[in-house]
Amino acid sequence: MDRLSVPSEVAAWSAAQRRQGGRVGFVPTMGALHAGHLALVAEARRRCDRVVASIFVNPLQFNNPEDLARYPRQPEADARLLAEAGCDLLFQPDAEGLYQGFRPLRYDLNGLDELWEGPSRPGHFQGVVNVVERLFHVVRPDMAFFGEKDRQQLAIIRHVATALHWPTVIVPCPTLREADGLAMSSRNQRLGPADRARATLLYRALRAVADEAFHLSVEEARQAGLDVLAADPEIHLDHLGIAHPDTLEPLTGWDGLDRAVALIAAHVGPVRLIDNLDLRRG
Ligand code: PAJ
Repeated sequence: MDRLSVPSEVAAWSAAQRRQGGRVGFVPTMGALHAGHLALVAEARRRCDRVVASIFVNPLQFNNPEDLARYPRQPEADARLLAEAGCDLLFQPDAEGLYQGFRPLRYDLNGLDELWEGPSRPGHFQGVVNVVERLFHVVRPDMAFFGEKDRQQLAIIRHVATALHWPTVIVPCPTLREADGLAMSSRNQRLGPADRARATLLYRALRAVADEAFHLSVEEARQAGLDVLAADPEIHLDHLGIAHPDTLEPLTGWDGLDRAVALIAAHVGPVRLIDNLDLRRG
Protein backbone atom coordinates (compact mmCIF):
# COMPACT_ATOMS: atom_id res chain seq x y z
CA MET A 1 0.00 0.00 0.00
CA ASP A 2 1.25 3.48 -0.88
CA ARG A 3 0.97 6.31 1.64
CA LEU A 4 0.85 9.94 0.56
CA SER A 5 0.01 13.18 2.32
CA VAL A 6 0.57 15.80 -0.39
CA PRO A 7 -2.65 16.42 -2.37
CA SER A 8 -0.91 17.01 -5.71
CA GLU A 9 0.89 13.64 -5.40
CA VAL A 10 -2.41 11.89 -4.70
CA ALA A 11 -4.02 13.62 -7.68
CA ALA A 12 -1.14 12.41 -9.89
CA TRP A 13 -1.40 8.85 -8.50
CA SER A 14 -5.12 8.74 -9.17
CA ALA A 15 -4.76 10.23 -12.67
CA ALA A 16 -2.19 7.53 -13.51
CA GLN A 17 -4.66 4.80 -12.44
CA ARG A 18 -7.40 6.28 -14.57
CA ARG A 19 -5.09 6.56 -17.60
CA GLN A 20 -4.54 2.80 -17.30
CA GLY A 21 -8.32 2.35 -17.33
CA GLY A 22 -8.51 1.56 -13.60
CA ARG A 23 -11.70 2.45 -11.78
CA VAL A 24 -10.84 4.32 -8.58
CA GLY A 25 -12.91 3.67 -5.43
CA PHE A 26 -12.61 5.98 -2.45
CA VAL A 27 -13.35 5.54 1.27
CA PRO A 28 -13.04 8.80 3.24
CA THR A 29 -12.59 8.32 7.01
CA MET A 30 -11.39 10.08 10.13
CA GLY A 31 -9.35 7.05 11.23
CA ALA A 32 -9.54 4.98 14.44
CA LEU A 33 -10.68 2.31 12.05
CA HIS A 34 -12.97 -0.60 12.92
CA ALA A 35 -14.67 -3.37 10.98
CA GLY A 36 -17.37 -0.95 9.74
CA HIS A 37 -14.77 1.13 7.92
CA LEU A 38 -13.05 -1.98 6.61
CA ALA A 39 -16.35 -3.24 5.18
CA LEU A 40 -16.44 -0.07 3.07
CA VAL A 41 -12.92 -0.84 1.86
CA ALA A 42 -14.00 -4.41 1.04
CA GLU A 43 -16.97 -3.13 -0.96
CA ALA A 44 -14.70 -0.69 -2.82
CA ARG A 45 -12.33 -3.58 -3.51
CA ARG A 46 -15.21 -5.58 -5.04
CA ARG A 47 -16.50 -2.75 -7.20
CA CYS A 48 -13.31 -0.95 -8.28
CA ASP A 49 -9.81 -1.66 -9.62
CA ARG A 50 -7.99 0.63 -7.21
CA VAL A 51 -8.95 1.59 -3.67
CA VAL A 52 -7.97 4.84 -1.97
CA ALA A 53 -8.79 5.51 1.69
CA SER A 54 -8.22 8.80 3.46
CA ILE A 55 -7.68 9.53 7.13
CA PHE A 56 -8.26 13.12 8.09
CA VAL A 57 -9.81 14.39 11.32
CA ASN A 58 -11.55 17.33 9.73
CA PRO A 59 -11.59 20.38 12.03
CA LEU A 60 -14.34 22.02 9.96
CA GLN A 61 -16.94 19.46 11.02
CA PHE A 62 -16.33 19.59 14.78
CA ASN A 63 -18.45 22.17 16.55
CA ASN A 64 -17.01 21.10 19.91
CA PRO A 65 -13.23 21.65 20.28
CA GLU A 66 -13.05 19.04 23.06
CA ASP A 67 -14.57 16.41 20.80
CA LEU A 68 -11.94 17.28 18.16
CA ALA A 69 -9.09 17.11 20.69
CA ARG A 70 -10.32 13.77 22.10
CA TYR A 71 -11.01 12.15 18.76
CA PRO A 72 -9.00 8.89 18.82
CA ARG A 73 -5.91 8.84 16.61
CA GLN A 74 -3.97 5.63 15.78
CA PRO A 75 -2.40 6.17 12.34
CA GLU A 76 0.01 3.24 12.36
CA ALA A 77 -2.58 0.65 13.44
CA ASP A 78 -4.98 2.13 10.86
CA ALA A 79 -2.39 1.85 8.08
CA ARG A 80 -1.84 -1.83 8.91
CA LEU A 81 -5.59 -2.54 8.86
CA LEU A 82 -6.02 -0.79 5.52
CA ALA A 83 -3.10 -2.63 3.94
CA GLU A 84 -4.56 -5.96 5.13
CA ALA A 85 -7.97 -4.99 3.73
CA GLY A 86 -6.46 -4.50 0.28
CA CYS A 87 -6.32 -0.71 0.14
CA ASP A 88 -3.89 0.55 -2.55
CA LEU A 89 -3.33 4.10 -1.35
CA LEU A 90 -3.70 5.77 2.04
CA PHE A 91 -4.12 9.52 1.73
CA GLN A 92 -3.28 11.28 5.01
CA PRO A 93 -3.39 15.01 4.35
CA ASP A 94 -2.77 17.67 6.94
CA ALA A 95 -5.13 20.62 7.32
CA GLU A 96 -2.67 23.12 5.81
CA GLY A 97 -2.15 21.03 2.69
CA LEU A 98 -5.80 20.14 2.15
CA TYR A 99 -7.24 23.59 2.83
CA GLN A 100 -4.43 25.68 1.35
CA GLY A 101 -5.89 28.76 -0.35
CA PHE A 102 -9.40 27.48 0.37
CA ARG A 103 -12.27 29.32 1.96
CA PRO A 104 -15.11 27.07 3.16
CA LEU A 105 -18.14 27.21 0.87
CA ARG A 106 -21.76 27.33 1.99
CA TYR A 107 -23.71 24.61 0.24
CA ASP A 108 -27.44 24.53 -0.30
CA LEU A 109 -28.36 21.38 1.64
CA ASN A 110 -32.06 21.75 0.90
CA GLY A 111 -32.88 21.95 4.62
CA LEU A 112 -31.47 18.46 5.24
CA ASP A 113 -29.04 19.93 7.76
CA GLU A 114 -31.88 21.39 9.83
CA LEU A 115 -33.25 17.95 10.76
CA TRP A 116 -32.13 15.42 13.40
CA GLU A 117 -28.40 15.98 14.01
CA GLY A 118 -28.50 19.51 12.62
CA PRO A 119 -29.73 21.53 15.63
CA SER A 120 -27.21 19.91 18.05
CA ARG A 121 -24.29 20.27 15.65
CA PRO A 122 -24.43 23.69 13.97
CA GLY A 123 -22.17 23.85 10.91
CA HIS A 124 -21.28 20.15 11.14
CA PHE A 125 -22.77 19.07 7.81
CA GLN A 126 -21.38 22.10 5.97
CA GLY A 127 -17.97 21.02 7.31
CA VAL A 128 -18.54 17.46 6.11
CA VAL A 129 -19.55 18.54 2.60
CA ASN A 130 -16.62 20.92 2.38
CA VAL A 131 -14.09 18.25 3.24
CA VAL A 132 -15.70 15.62 1.03
CA GLU A 133 -15.62 18.06 -1.89
CA ARG A 134 -11.94 18.87 -1.18
CA LEU A 135 -11.04 15.17 -0.94
CA PHE A 136 -13.01 14.30 -4.09
CA HIS A 137 -11.31 17.17 -5.89
CA VAL A 138 -7.93 15.60 -5.14
CA VAL A 139 -8.77 11.89 -5.52
CA ARG A 140 -11.35 12.26 -8.33
CA PRO A 141 -12.89 8.87 -7.51
CA ASP A 142 -15.25 7.02 -9.83
CA MET A 143 -17.11 5.71 -6.79
CA ALA A 144 -17.11 6.70 -3.13
CA PHE A 145 -18.37 4.54 -0.27
CA PHE A 146 -20.31 5.85 2.72
CA GLY A 147 -21.89 4.03 5.67
CA GLU A 148 -25.60 4.04 6.41
CA LYS A 149 -24.54 4.38 10.06
CA ASP A 150 -24.37 8.12 9.33
CA ARG A 151 -27.67 8.21 7.57
CA GLN A 152 -28.10 11.98 7.47
CA GLN A 153 -24.53 12.49 6.26
CA LEU A 154 -25.20 9.98 3.48
CA ALA A 155 -28.45 11.73 2.49
CA ILE A 156 -26.68 15.10 2.41
CA ILE A 157 -23.74 13.85 0.34
CA ARG A 158 -26.15 12.23 -2.10
CA HIS A 159 -28.16 15.42 -2.33
CA VAL A 160 -25.10 17.59 -3.06
CA ALA A 161 -23.63 15.04 -5.48
CA THR A 162 -26.86 15.06 -7.48
CA ALA A 163 -27.52 18.80 -7.27
CA LEU A 164 -23.97 19.75 -8.30
CA HIS A 165 -23.59 16.94 -10.84
CA TRP A 166 -20.57 15.48 -9.13
CA PRO A 167 -19.24 12.71 -11.40
CA THR A 168 -18.56 10.35 -8.48
CA VAL A 169 -21.11 7.59 -7.82
CA ILE A 170 -22.08 7.57 -4.12
CA VAL A 171 -22.39 3.98 -2.85
CA PRO A 172 -24.24 3.37 0.46
CA CYS A 173 -23.03 0.48 2.65
CA PRO A 174 -24.90 -1.21 5.53
CA THR A 175 -24.11 -0.55 9.19
CA LEU A 176 -21.82 -3.05 10.89
CA ARG A 177 -22.75 -3.87 14.48
CA GLU A 178 -21.17 -5.54 17.49
CA ALA A 179 -22.65 -8.91 18.51
CA ASP A 180 -25.07 -7.18 20.92
CA GLY A 181 -26.28 -4.78 18.25
CA LEU A 182 -24.30 -1.64 19.14
CA ALA A 183 -23.33 0.10 15.90
CA MET A 184 -19.55 0.12 15.49
CA SER A 185 -18.10 3.58 15.97
CA SER A 186 -14.68 5.03 16.68
CA ARG A 187 -16.29 6.82 19.64
CA ASN A 188 -17.21 3.48 21.31
CA GLN A 189 -13.56 3.29 22.44
CA ARG A 190 -14.33 6.04 24.94
CA LEU A 191 -17.12 4.09 26.67
CA GLY A 192 -16.25 2.55 30.05
CA PRO A 193 -17.64 -0.95 30.77
CA ALA A 194 -20.90 0.26 32.39
CA ASP A 195 -21.61 2.77 29.60
CA ARG A 196 -20.64 0.19 26.97
CA ALA A 197 -23.28 -2.16 28.42
CA ARG A 198 -26.02 0.51 28.52
CA ALA A 199 -25.18 1.70 24.98
CA THR A 200 -26.87 -1.44 23.57
CA LEU A 201 -30.19 0.09 24.66
CA LEU A 202 -29.99 2.42 21.64
CA TYR A 203 -30.17 -0.53 19.27
CA ARG A 204 -32.81 -2.25 21.40
CA ALA A 205 -34.91 0.91 21.26
CA LEU A 206 -34.59 1.01 17.46
CA ARG A 207 -35.60 -2.67 17.30
CA ALA A 208 -38.63 -1.97 19.46
CA VAL A 209 -39.66 0.79 17.03
CA ALA A 210 -39.11 -1.57 14.08
CA ASP A 211 -41.29 -4.25 15.72
CA GLU A 212 -44.25 -1.86 15.99
CA ALA A 213 -43.66 0.12 12.77
CA PHE A 214 -46.54 -0.07 10.28
CA HIS A 215 -48.69 -1.98 12.84
CA LEU A 216 -49.22 0.79 15.36
CA SER A 217 -49.28 4.54 14.73
CA VAL A 218 -45.98 6.40 14.20
CA GLU A 219 -46.27 7.94 17.68
CA GLU A 220 -46.99 4.57 19.30
CA ALA A 221 -44.07 2.92 17.50
CA ARG A 222 -41.83 5.75 18.70
CA GLN A 223 -43.18 5.34 22.22
CA ALA A 224 -42.19 1.66 22.17
CA GLY A 225 -38.59 2.82 21.64
CA LEU A 226 -38.85 5.44 24.39
CA ASP A 227 -40.14 2.76 26.80
CA VAL A 228 -36.94 0.75 26.24
CA LEU A 229 -34.77 3.78 26.96
CA ALA A 230 -36.76 4.66 30.07
CA ALA A 231 -35.21 1.57 31.72
CA ASP A 232 -31.95 3.50 32.17
CA PRO A 233 -31.95 7.12 33.41
CA GLU A 234 -28.23 7.39 32.56
CA ILE A 235 -29.09 7.52 28.86
CA HIS A 236 -29.67 11.14 27.91
CA LEU A 237 -31.71 11.13 24.75
CA ASP A 238 -31.25 13.85 22.13
CA HIS A 239 -33.77 12.49 19.69
CA LEU A 240 -35.61 9.36 18.68
CA GLY A 241 -37.76 9.80 15.63
CA ILE A 242 -39.24 8.20 12.56
CA ALA A 243 -38.55 9.68 9.16
CA HIS A 244 -39.12 9.33 5.44
CA PRO A 245 -36.38 7.01 4.11
CA ASP A 246 -35.17 9.44 1.44
CA THR A 247 -35.97 12.99 2.57
CA LEU A 248 -35.49 12.18 6.28
CA GLU A 249 -38.49 14.44 7.01
CA PRO A 250 -40.16 13.40 10.29
CA LEU A 251 -43.28 11.32 9.69
CA THR A 252 -46.56 11.84 11.51
CA GLY A 253 -48.33 8.99 9.69
CA TRP A 254 -47.15 6.05 7.56
CA ASP A 255 -48.61 7.78 4.48
CA GLY A 256 -48.81 4.61 2.39
CA LEU A 257 -45.02 4.13 2.62
CA ASP A 258 -43.40 0.68 2.62
CA ARG A 259 -40.18 1.89 4.17
CA ALA A 260 -39.15 4.41 6.76
CA VAL A 261 -36.19 4.94 9.06
CA ALA A 262 -35.86 5.34 12.82
CA LEU A 263 -33.07 7.65 13.98
CA ILE A 264 -31.61 8.01 17.46
CA ALA A 265 -28.97 10.15 19.17
CA ALA A 266 -28.13 9.97 22.86
CA HIS A 267 -25.40 10.83 25.31
CA VAL A 268 -24.06 7.77 27.07
CA GLY A 269 -21.42 8.68 29.63
CA PRO A 270 -18.87 10.93 27.91
CA VAL A 271 -19.94 10.05 24.38
CA ARG A 272 -22.72 11.10 22.04
CA LEU A 273 -23.82 8.11 20.00
CA ILE A 274 -26.02 7.98 16.89
CA ASP A 275 -27.68 5.08 15.15
CA ASN A 276 -30.58 4.36 12.81
CA LEU A 277 -32.55 1.39 11.52
CA ASP A 278 -34.61 0.75 8.41
CA LEU A 279 -38.28 0.10 9.06
CA ARG A 280 -40.14 -2.11 6.60
CA ARG A 281 -43.79 -2.94 6.15
CA GLY A 282 -44.70 -6.61 6.52
P1 PAJ B 1 -15.91 8.34 10.01
O1 PAJ B 1 -16.80 8.55 11.19
O2 PAJ B 1 -14.51 7.90 10.21
O3 PAJ B 1 -16.64 7.32 9.07
C1 PAJ B 1 -16.10 7.02 7.80
C2 PAJ B 1 -17.11 6.20 7.04
O4 PAJ B 1 -17.35 4.97 7.72
C3 PAJ B 1 -18.48 6.92 6.94
O5 PAJ B 1 -19.02 6.74 5.64
C4 PAJ B 1 -19.29 6.19 7.99
O6 PAJ B 1 -20.69 6.22 7.75
C5 PAJ B 1 -18.73 4.79 7.87
N1 PAJ B 1 -19.02 4.01 9.08
C6 PAJ B 1 -18.77 4.36 10.37
N2 PAJ B 1 -19.22 3.40 11.21
C7 PAJ B 1 -19.76 2.43 10.45
C8 PAJ B 1 -20.41 1.18 10.72
N3 PAJ B 1 -20.58 0.74 11.96
N4 PAJ B 1 -20.84 0.44 9.67
C9 PAJ B 1 -20.67 0.88 8.39
N5 PAJ B 1 -20.07 2.05 8.06
C10 PAJ B 1 -19.63 2.82 9.08
O7 PAJ B 1 -18.02 9.88 8.55
C11 PAJ B 1 -16.90 10.38 8.66
O8 PAJ B 1 -15.83 9.71 9.17
C12 PAJ B 1 -16.60 11.79 8.19
O9 PAJ B 1 -17.72 12.60 8.37
C13 PAJ B 1 -16.10 11.86 6.74
C14 PAJ B 1 -17.15 11.38 5.74
C15 PAJ B 1 -14.80 11.05 6.56
C16 PAJ B 1 -15.77 13.35 6.38
O10 PAJ B 1 -14.83 13.86 7.26
